[in-house]
Amino acid sequence: MALPSSMIAAVLLFALPIPTIAQTDNGNECSCFRTNGSSQGYFTYHRFHDYRDVATASTTPPTVISNSTNATNAFATSDFFLQDAWQNDWAIQNWNNSDSMAASGAAVTMINSPNNVYIEKSTDNDPTYSSYLVLRTSRLPDFQSAAEIDSTEQNFHYVSARFMARVIGAPGACAGLFTYLASDNPQSVQEADIEILTAGPRDMVQYTNQPSTDSNGDAIPQATVNGTNPGARDWTLWNTYRVDWMPKMTSWYVNGEGAANISFQTPKDPAGLILNMWSDGGVWTGNMSLYDEAYLQIQWMEFVYNTSGAASAKRDEHGPSGLLEKRKGGTPGCKVVCGVDEDVNITGTPAFLYNSTAPMGWRGDGMGIMAWIPVVLAGAALFGYF
Ligand SMILES: *[C@@H]1O[C@H](CO)[C@@H](O)[C@H](O)[C@H]1NC(C)=O
Ligand SMILES: *[C@@H]1O[C@H](CO)[C@@H](O)[C@H](O)[C@H]1NC(C)=O
Ligand SMILES: *[C@@H]1O[C@H](CO)[C@@H](O)[C@H](O)[C@H]1NC(C)=O
Ligand SMILES: *[C@@H]1O[C@H](CO)[C@@H](O)[C@H](O)[C@H]1NC(C)=O
Ligand SMILES: *[C@@H]1O[C@H](CO)[C@@H](O)[C@H](O)[C@H]1NC(C)=O
Ligand SMILES: *[C@@H]1O[C@H](CO)[C@@H](O)[C@H](O)[C@H]1NC(C)=O
Ligand SMILES: *[C@@H]1O[C@H](CO)[C@@H](O)[C@H](O)[C@H]1NC(C)=O
Ligand SMILES: *[C@@H]1O[C@H](CO)[C@@H](O)[C@H](O)[C@H]1NC(C)=O
Ligand SMILES: *[C@@H]1O[C@H](CO)[C@@H](O)[C@H](O)[C@H]1NC(C)=O
Ligand SMILES: *[C@@H]1O[C@H](CO)[C@@H](O)[C@H](O)[C@H]1NC(C)=O
Repeated sequence: MALPSSMIAAVLLFALPIPTIAQTDNGNECSCFRTNGSSQGYFTYHRFHDYRDVATASTTPPTVISNSTNATNAFATSDFFLQDAWQNDWAIQNWNNSDSMAASGAAVTMINSPNNVYIEKSTDNDPTYSSYLVLRTSRLPDFQSAAEIDSTEQNFHYVSARFMARVIGAPGACAGLFTYLASDNPQSVQEADIEILTAGPRDMVQYTNQPSTDSNGDAIPQATVNGTNPGARDWTLWNTYRVDWMPKMTSWYVNGEGAANISFQTPKDPAGLILNMWSDGGVWTGNMSLYDEAYLQIQWMEFVYNTSGAASAKRDEHGPSGLLEKRKGGTPGCKVVCGVDEDVNITGTPAFLYNSTAPMGWRGDGMGIMAWIPVVLAGAALFGYF
């Protein structure tokens, strides 16, 4: 790559179509973002994914595809998923569990189908949203049809992620919202998980720093918490689930209240984000009855995060004078500090907290002098290009 990094970013920025109303990034005046609570921290990037008002939302869900080949090869359910605004950030999956069934204890073939990811028009009596994203799973005669989306950013290195979500449908499925770093060795995967089991009590959510079983298949109790929602809130209602993957501990919140902290086995290496709705007839999800369905529905997601620095393999490809390096020195310190919790009046729009008085670093930062990347570039162009 011969172009100066700033030019690459600029070219990408202008090459991208203006995001539709469905996806916006706010907080361009901010140079860093602060979270609240006991796991509070500061982050460089902010993303807001909004599915609440998608004009092309459909009133009828896509017809379930019962042929496994066709389910695998299904097209996106609408143009929404073909736009850059979606594709820059998310990859809809179509893998199946054929190779891993024995090892994972699955009893049912599971196929992820793009046909199970769609935008649905709301029929709820609530004026604050007219649509939402749906991940569907459906038990069919030959297989379990499932849904998964993976972030294109695979380099999150600490993130505070919030999901306005609900789970509805039949028992036997699992809704997952989690950080994920794959490994061929199941003992070496790294995850910070939110999991909702549709066969479980409707006010309980499982939080885990994976792996939750050892090499003998025995449970590792310190890795997981079976949490009760504050106020025993039902997960069939809309709740804001928040996971703070921080360096020493993962903390989870529901509707702004602490739900779990796990410092054991906190994921340490850069990772991606995954959302899925699945079942494989194993002991974790249980079986769904034939033709039953379950859904993970999302109004919006908001992420504040850093990406990996010098330690990242991808980063090393660019060498020491890579993208990030070149920006250093341009904007020393975090000048404009914004909150994604405190003072926020409009969901997804960070609130100005203060103009930093110190030229370098900022309050609460234990990691030394910092360079901040202009957030407008970060959001629109750099995503996925490190
Ligand atoms: C963070 O701030 C929001 C908005 O003021 C509040 O609802 C929430 O309870 C706070 N969370 C924590 C963990 O303090
Ligand atoms: C994010 O990066 C900034 C700059 O390096 C750092 O000061 C801050 O502590 C980081 N946040 C986390 C959660 O590591
Ligand atoms: C699968 O797709 C093919 C076209 O590719 C179509 O002819 C066939 O009817 C489909 N089968 C089912 C069961 O939908
Ligand atoms: C699925 O559809 C493909 C393409 O139409 C066909 O070749 C295959 O036999 C079908 N599979 C089943 C199990 O019906
Ligand atoms: C699962 O995927 C593999 C390729 O990854 C494919 O060969 C196989 O036919 C698929 N199984 C089913 C049941 O679709
Ligand atoms: C969580 O606890 C509830 C109530 O004790 C129990 O019914 C449920 O099975 C537990 N979930 C898991 C995954 O162990
Ligand atoms: C998480 O840890 C903090 C202290 O770091 C504590 O104040 C909070 O109550 C804990 N939350 C839960 C749900 O245990
Ligand atoms: C799910 O059903 C299959 C038979 O179709 C059975 O072998 C398996 O044990 C069941 N799973 C559970 C968790 O009961
Ligand atoms: C949010 O609303 C409060 C009360 O109306 C106001 O004081 C504050 O300035 C607003 N914050 C932002 C970021 O607009
Ligand atoms: C922060 O300071 C700059 C000048 O350094 C000023 O232009 C900007 O308006 C200030 N932002 C706020 C929200 O006060």
